[in-house]
Amino acid sequence: MNDVLNEDSDSEQTFGVYVHWPFCLSKCPYCDFNSHVRHAAIDEQRFLRAFHTEIGKTAERVRGRTVSSIFFGGGTPSLMQPSTIAGVLNSIARQWRVAPDAEITMEANPTSVEAERFRGYRAAGVNRVSLGVQALDDRVLAELGRLHTAREALEAVDVARQVFGRYSFDLIYARPGQQPKEWAAELRTALAEAGEHISLYQLTIEPETPFATLHAAGKLRLPDEDTARALYDTTQEICAAQGLPAYEISNHARLGGECRHNLIYWRSHEYAGIGPGAHGRLDIGGERHATATEKRPETWLGLVESQGHGLITDEVLTREERSDEFLLMGLRLTEGINVARYEAISGRKLDPARVAMLLEHGLVETTADGCLRVTLPGFPVLDAVVADLAA
Ligand SMILES: C[S@@+](CC[C@H](N)C(=O)[O-])C[C@H]1O[C@@H](n2cnc3c(N)ncnc32)[C@H](O)[C@@H]1O
Ligand code: SF4
Repeated sequence: MNDVLNEDSDSEQTFGVYVHWPFCLSKCPYCDFNSHVRHAAIDEQRFLRAFHTEIGKTAERVRGRTVSSIFFGGGTPSLMQPSTIAGVLNSIARQWRVAPDAEITMEANPTSVEAERFRGYRAAGVNRVSLGVQALDDRVLAELGRLHTAREALEAVDVARQVFGRYSFDLIYARPGQQPKEWAAELRTALAEAGEHISLYQLTIEPETPFATLHAAGKLRLPDEDTARALYDTTQEICAAQGLPAYEISNHARLGGECRHNLIYWRSHEYAGIGPGAHGRLDIGGERHATATEKRPETWLGLVESQGHGLITDEVLTREERSDEFLLMGLRLTEGINVARYEAISGRKLDPARVAMLLEHGLVETTADGCLRVTLPGFPVLDAVVADLAA
């Protein structure tokens, strides 16, 4: 089992560090990410010291790695001062070797104030930005609780294009009342501004959000199944025609423009999670540890200051858990999963009868290089395909 993760040719050079910034200026009504609004100023120096401590403590457990990707996610990391970002990058570089071509991504909200700081982030070492544009219609942006207009968002995209080598932005579709024709026009406008990568998420109603309350009260009418399917198909067709086919269920890129950090998750490689509510997967002594830190920012700070880390979960995954996770993550990718790697992780073969049935229905296909992947018609029913193979 020890060597399972080394069977992949690129696994030894693949180690990611995720850093979570848990604050936002306001809470969007659809969002259940670990993000909090604070009216008092955030003591960034104190957070920086805590990040430094937690990075050091994590590195004691996983020495000798070469960091291939760093990702500042949130919340809204573009509310951090560039000097705080620089401080975190220095801490990481003091603990691990950072590959010269490491991808260093930051999520940013596309307001003009944040775009003004982009050059500072670039100077700190960030080389890729991912902007939450969400929609290109001001009425919809207001309904989504966003603090920017479509114009402001496109201006931020413009600054990102000038400042960073690589940029991406997110849109949310399958919104209340959205029709395929309107979405096609919005998507085409967006793609005209896209670089090598775009993320297109179908609106999910997350429990305990204001959108969930509205939905339960019948005040938020989501597209029905046929419309949702038509929106999805429109998305795939337009993006593929523009040279940005899906490489993951919600992510599209030109060849080579994929988000390397997220590929670490989807390919079940190793990553450290730093900051409040961050998850990690660490390979220690042949075992895979699933880690998670305390979510509440102030509690996390207290834990790090008193015990050197904010970990509240550190579980060794069973073989079954590892193999289920491998399927769940890997089948989101259009490249699919390497069947031999699955067998090495799980210690068993995929059920031939189930595979045969999925093949027969055209939901999966096999490739000459030993991969099993979900087909275009299979993606809308991905959850069922995964459940079937994992059973
Ligand atoms: C951590 S969040 C966003 C980063 C940044 N704070 C922002 O909002 O611009 C990452 C992305 O998840 C997507 N997202 C969040 N909640 C969602 C939901 N309920 N349904 C679909 N997409 C969602 C949004 O597109 C968002 O940009
Ligand atoms: S969508 Fe982004 S800005 Fe809105 S609450 Fe979530 S993390 Fe914050």
